[in-house]
Amino acid sequence: MFTTPSLPRNPKILDVGAGTGFFTVKLNNRVRQTLRNVHFYAMDVTPAMLISLRKKSDEITPFVGIAENIKSSIKEARKYFNIPLRFDAAFSTLMLHHSAEPRKVFKGIKEILKRKGKAVVIDLCKHNFKEFKTEFGDIHLGFNIEGINE
Ligand SMILES: C[S@@+](CC[C@H](N)C(=O)[O-])C[C@H]1O[C@@H](n2cnc3c(N)ncnc32)[C@H](O)[C@@H]1O
Repeated sequence: MFTTPSLPRNPKILDVGAGTGFFTVKLNNRVRQTLRNVHFYAMDVTPAMLISLRKKSDEITPFVGIAENIKSSIKEARKYFNIPLRFDAAFSTLMLHHSAEPRKVFKGIKEILKRKGKAVVIDLCKHNFKEFKTEFGDIHLGFNIEGINE
C-alpha cells in the first residue's frame, strides 16, 4: 500500500542522479495526488538524460549536477533556475554504484536536507557480475549493508 511520508504541504524534493526520470516522473505523479503543491527537482551529470526527462514532464525542474558535490551543483544551477538551497526530501535510485565517492554523496544529501528532512537511497546489493563494470560503466558491484552503515 502507498502511504505518503509526513511532509509539509508544499514539499521540495530532489532526485540525485535522476537519469531520464523513470522514477522521478512516477513519484511526482503519485505524490501530487495527495500534495498538490509538491515540486520535484531532478539532478544528473548527463545533460542528455535530463533532456529526455524534460520531454516526459514539465512539472519537474531538471538541472546538471554532480552527486559528490550537490551543494555546489545547486549553487551553480541557481544562476539559471529557481532551485532551493534546502529540500524536504531527497532520493537517489541506482546512481550510487556509479559514484567514485559514495560517502560524499551521502554527506552531500545530508547537507541539502532541511531539519527533519528525509532521504531514501536505493541501490544494488553486492553482486559478482564483473562485466557490469565494462558493459554499464559501474564503479561498484553493489554494496553490502555493513559498508553502508560505516
Ligand atoms: C542507472 S541510471 C539511474 C537513473 C534513475 N535514477 C533511475 O533509477 O532510472 C544512473 C544515473 O546516474 C547518473 N550519474 C552517474 N554518476 C553521477 C554523478 N556522479 N553525479 C550525478 N549523476 C550521476 C547517470 O548519468 C545516470 O543518469
